Amino acid sequence: MRIAFYGCGNIAQSIIEGLIEDGFKSKDIFYLDRNKENKKRLKKLKIKNLENHKVSIDIFFLAVKPKDAMLGFETILESYKNPKVVSLVAGINSKSYLKRGNDIEFLRAMPNTSSKYNSGITAILNSTFKENNLKKVIKLFNRVGIVLELNKESSMDKFTGFIGSGPAYFFYLLKTYEKNLNKLSNGDSLKSKEIIASLLNGVALSIKNGGSMDELISIVASRKGTTEAGINLFKSKKLLNIFDYGIKSAIKRSKEISNEYK
Ligand SMILES: NC(=O)c1ccc[n+]([C@@H]2O[C@H](COP(=O)([O-])OP(=O)(O)OC[C@H]3O[C@@H](n4cnc5c(N)ncnc54)[C@H](OP(=O)(O)O)[C@@H]3O)[C@@H](O)[C@H]2O)c1
Repeated sequence: MRIAFYGCGNIAQSIIEGLIEDGFKSKDIFYLDRNKENKKRLKKLKIKNLENHKVSIDIFFLAVKPKDAMLGFETILESYKNPKVVSLVAGINSKSYLKRGNDIEFLRAMPNTSSKYNSGITAILNSTFKENNLKKVIKLFNRVGIVLELNKESSMDKFTGFIGSGPAYFFYLLKTYEKNLNKLSNGDSLKSKEIIASLLNGVALSIKNGGSMDELISIVASRKGTTEAGINLFKSKKLLNIFDYGIKSAIKRSKEISNEYK
C-alpha cells in the first residue's frame, strides 16, 4: 500500500516515524509540503516528495492546519483521480469536505503525536470509506497505537479536545516537575527528563495493572502524610474542575473551528 501526506509537519511526521519503526517501508510513503524545514526532515527520513514522482496513491492523509484544509482538499481532488482521503484536521467536520467531493471515499481520523513512539491513540469517524478500505486505515493506525472508532462528529470534537490535545496538557503540568527537578539535579536537564519519563512509565504501568484511580492514590498516600497534604490542597483549590474547564474549552474550540470552515 502506498500512502501520501498532504501537509507533512508535526502530526504527519509522528505517524511516519511510528510506521517506519513498525516496519512500514519508507519507499511507500510520500509527502506534499511547502515548508523548507519539514522538507529537510523528510529527506532524512527518506520520504519522497510526491511532486517529483508519478505514482498512484492508495490513501491520502490531509494533515495541514484548519486554515489550509479546504484548499489542500480541493487540490487533492483536482490533481489525483478518485482519491481516498483521510482528514487529520481538527474541527472541520465531514460534511464540509463531502460538499466539495461527495463521490469520494472520505473519513476523519484524529491521532496524537504519541504515534511517533507507537503509543498513539487515534479516533476514526468513517463517512464514505468502503469496508475493505476502512479496514486498511484502521490497520495502519493500529501499527502506531490504539484505534477507537466513533460514530458522531460531536464525539470527534470531544476526542480532539481530550486526547488529540492530551499530550500537551501533561507536558504543561509536568513543567512544574521539570522546574523543580532541574534544581535538585543541579541543572542536569537530561537527568530531570529521565526521571520524569520514569515517573510516567511507572504511572502508566500502575494504571494498566491496578484498580481505580482512587485506589491507586490510596496506595501512595498515607494518612496525614505528604501525599495527602498535596492532594488535599489540590482538592481545596478545585484543581480537577480547572482541568475539566480547560478540556471543555478545547472541545468548544473544536466546534468553533467546525463553524468557521463550513
Ligand atoms: N499536532 C498535533 O498534535 C495534531 C494532533 C491531531 C491532529 N492534528 C491536526 O493535524 C493538522 C496538522 O497539524 P500539525 O501540527 O502537523 O501542523 P504543521 O506542523 O503546521 O504541518 C502542516 C504542514 O502543512 C504545510 N502546508 C499547509 N498548506 C500547504 C499547502 N497548500 N501546500 C503544501 N504544504 C502546505 C505547512 O507548511 P507551512 O508551515 O508553510 O504553513 C506545514 O509544513 C491540523 O489540522 C491539526 O488540527 C494535529
